[in-house]
Amino acid sequence: MFPVTRMRRMRSDERLREMFCETSVDISDFIYPLYIKESAEDGTPEEISTMPGQYRYSVNDAVEFAGLLEDSGLKSVILFGIPDHKDAVASSAHDPNGIIQQTIRQLKEQTDLVVLGDVCMCEYTDHGHCGIIRDNYVQNDETLDYLSRIAVSYADAGVDVVAPSDMMDGRVAAIRDALDTNDYINTPIFSYAAKYASTFYAPFRDAADSTPSFGDRKSYQMDPGNFNEAIREVELDVYEGTDAIIVKPALAYLDVLREIKNTFKMPTVAYQVSGEYSMITAGIEKGYITEDLMYESFTSIKRAGADMIISYFVPQILGIE
Ligand code: PBG
Repeated sequence: MFPVTRMRRMRSDERLREMFCETSVDISDFIYPLYIKESAEDGTPEEISTMPGQYRYSVNDAVEFAGLLEDSGLKSVILFGIPDHKDAVASSAHDPNGIIQQTIRQLKEQTDLVVLGDVCMCEYTDHGHCGIIRDNYVQNDETLDYLSRIAVSYADAGVDVVAPSDMMDGRVAAIRDALDTNDYINTPIFSYAAKYASTFYAPFRDAADSTPSFGDRKSYQMDPGNFNEAIREVELDVYEGTDAIIVKPALAYLDVLREIKNTFKMPTVAYQVSGEYSMITAGIEKGYITEDLMYESFTSIKRAGADMIISYFVPQILGIE
């Protein structure tokens, strides 16, 4: 007890503080999201107005930029596509020559990055929802076939990991089955098991042009007030064979992240989403807060149990603009 025990004693020396810091963050903890747009011209990436410092790239530019990040220590990227053609069933999402399939092939040829493909339909549907619509409702079981097709087309292109973000029931089992049937037994699935219907995605929907044309995503993504339901979602995905869990968003859901890590001990990834990036970036730009907040956010996310963080801040961490 005080005065014998003094908690400040171990904080009084910077070297001791460093020795016993419980949480470390390294560039190898990060996965960088890349937006690839079919109509983008080489050499002129389009800055995303709601995400300053983030761009929509052509395939060549995306691969070149990813290579630069890799040279500075980045290990992994996750890909999002913005196709020219959108229709009711997201045909271009599983096109063997689609924008993501082309990018996967080139990244695999030109880099050693671990390439994750986000599997979803919302960027490819004309209605902006993550599945097949009938009677104004996203049809679960029908959507599974399409998701499986997208996952297999990514695997055909050589993707390292597929990451379904649609929140349909049973999609991990369906995708696992489709991959295995096509001999991709060693292609892992990282499922967005706990994905909330969050306002933090607003800048992404602008970036990916995927705002739903009617309604919202609350009939498939989770209510921000629900905690127990997240555990059940993860339990099902683990049972269906997911290899890692993605929790999304990150900073406002650290309680969920910690519980998931404690309960399942699975490889766990937190997605620091577009709104989190834009909020911190705006604060720094305005001078209300400093860049240190960016680092504190990573430390907090790792402390809460994340093994990896998907974050738009990667170029900034590496000093590459
Ligand atoms: C697609 C998807 C979304 C994000 C990743 N995959 C958006 C959504 O559900 O509307 C959000 C990423 C971000 O905000 O950074 N289903």
